Amino acid sequence: MTGFTEEFVERLLRAAEAARANAHAPYSEFSVGAAVLDENGAIHVGCNVENASFGLSVCAERNAVAAAVAAGGRGLAALVVITPARPPASPCGACRQVLAEFGDFPVLLANPDGERRMTSVSELLPDAFDRSVLDSS
Ligand code: THU
Repeated sequence: MTGFTEEFVERLLRAAEAARANAHAPYSEFSVGAAVLDENGAIHVGCNVENASFGLSVCAERNAVAAAVAAGGRGLAALVVITPARPPASPCGACRQVLAEFGDFPVLLANPDGERRMTSVSELLPDAFDRSVLDSS
C-alpha cells in the first residue's frame, strides 16, 4: 500500500473528522481527529482523550497509531490530522517520535476550514531516534 491517492485522502479526511467529533477535550476544548492508513489499506482512527489529571491526556495521533497496531497494522502508509488551528497544527513532539516508529510516510495536516498542509514524518522529525540506533550498539 503506497501513496496518498485522492480517494484515500478523502476517506482519511472523513474518518479523521468523524473521530474528531468524538474527542474528549473538555479542558482544552481543542478537539483533534486522526486517521492512519496501514500497509493493507485499512484505516484506523483516534481522537484526543483528556483527563482531569491533565498529564494523562493522550493525543489523537497516538490513539490512532494504537488502534492500527491493535488491529494488526504495522507499516503505516499515511496519516491525516484535523485540528481546529488556523493554519492547521502539526503533531506534538511525543507524537512525532511515536509516528517515526512506524516508518516515514506522508502526513496531511488539515482544519475544518479546508486549509491543508502536506508534510511527512521525516520532515516533522529529522534525525529520529529509531531502531537503527539500537541496532548500531
Ligand atoms: N493534541 C492532539 O491530540 N494532537 C496534537 O497534534 C496536538 C495536541 C491534543 C492534546 C490535548 O488534548 C489538546 O490537543 C490540547 O493540547
